[in-house]
Amino acid sequence: MRYRTLNSRMFIHHRAELSKLLLPNSLAVLNANDIPPTNADGSMVMRPNSDLFYLSGVEQEESILLLYPEAHEENMREILFLRETNDLIAVWEGHKLTKKEASKLSGIKRVEWLCEFPALFHRLTCECDHVYLNSNEHKRAHIDVESRDARFVRDTQARYPLHDYQRLARLMHRLRGVKSDYELDLIKQACAITKAGFLRVCKFVKPGVAETEVEAEFAHEFIRRRGGFAYSPIIASGKNSCVLHYLSNDQPCRTGEVLLLDVAASYANYNSDLTRTIPVSGRFTRRQRQIYDAVLRVFRETCKAATPGKLPKQWQKDAEAVMQEELLQLGLLKPSQVRRQDPDKPALKKYFMHGVGHPIGLDVHDVGITTEPIQAGWVLTVEPGIYLPKEGFAIRLENDILVKEGGNVDLMTDIPIEAEEVEALLRRRDKRVPGSAP
Ligand code: GLY
Ligand code: MN
Repeated sequence: MRYRTLNSRMFIHHRAELSKLLLPNSLAVLNANDIPPTNADGSMVMRPNSDLFYLSGVEQEESILLLYPEAHEENMREILFLRETNDLIAVWEGHKLTKKEASKLSGIKRVEWLCEFPALFHRLTCECDHVYLNSNEHKRAHIDVESRDARFVRDTQARYPLHDYQRLARLMHRLRGVKSDYELDLIKQACAITKAGFLRVCKFVKPGVAETEVEAEFAHEFIRRRGGFAYSPIIASGKNSCVLHYLSNDQPCRTGEVLLLDVAASYANYNSDLTRTIPVSGRFTRRQRQIYDAVLRVFRETCKAATPGKLPKQWQKDAEAVMQEELLQLGLLKPSQVRRQDPDKPALKKYFMHGVGHPIGLDVHDVGITTEPIQAGWVLTVEPGIYLPKEGFAIRLENDILVKEGGNVDLMTDIPIEAEEVEALLRRRDKRVPGSAP
């Protein structure tokens, strides 16, 4: 594991919180993710199953977690099943969790090899009244491949057709929306790694550097700090900054352009999400600065506006109202356009066409019950932007905030965001010529 060993109390706490939400005499089963195959004999990197990790800290392939908090026998209440290793696996894949290690990591006393699962599951599933199974219920998920959890649902329902099945995802979304203190600590560590990457890049960027080189600088800083990229980095200079999901990162950064950096780190599977837009030459043009300051004002208002009790939909509307005012001031929108606009398709969407923020945590667009009011303990991104493809640039700014009664906390408040601060950072940059030896 790249990250320091986590405290098992985190996972014990999360399991206790889940137990409170289960119906009486319920059993829940969660599966690890599959290792995705390539088109030949290789495999891609497996992303740990977020829910399994949340409840156990286990990342290992094929693992199964069975929770039955009201089982008659105490040693049946929490069982973790692991792939049993052998000499061949040890040679080709390396170390796998021992029962003792898994128990220490997760705080689960009973750990069994996978071969024990069918008999134990049969017995317990016949003793319980409800079976909670997991599925991907993210509202924007597009799923073409069947996950281990999905196969397990299919097989289990075929085998036990008369059981009462419940959706575990619904409960996981509710739980994971409100971050525990353990989780906040990890998100803050991800933010700290992100900050280090951003500061490094500000010393590096100048006309002539390539977007690829900028990506490499981030990678260096994130990985040496035992983190990783939270998502595919967007390193978009000039007109590329107007492409919301620009991923090729293969162009040179030119004099006078902006460089939009939507790049952030993860740590221990917890993610951060940051966007800064910086001037390649070290100073924003008058026009870039005008747009930058407008976006920054929307950002500041929107950070404050995510108040507990407000519906996320209303938060979006509030952000759009502030943005609309800025766009009117900038002359990008005319009052007559605003008066005539269809409220379902407001004119401002031409310049700000995406959501103003999303929950973040074990997933970058994290799960949460976003049809219900915002709650204290949610961690949200705030990411307004103005996109001007005709002028060849966009400005987006993004931090992660913790929603709190009495005022939200910006978890990235120490990452420079004011235009002058960013320009000052760039003035301290490296004088090396790109491509020269370090
Ligand atoms: N920064 C990545 C995203 O929010 O989609
Ligand atoms: Mn984001």
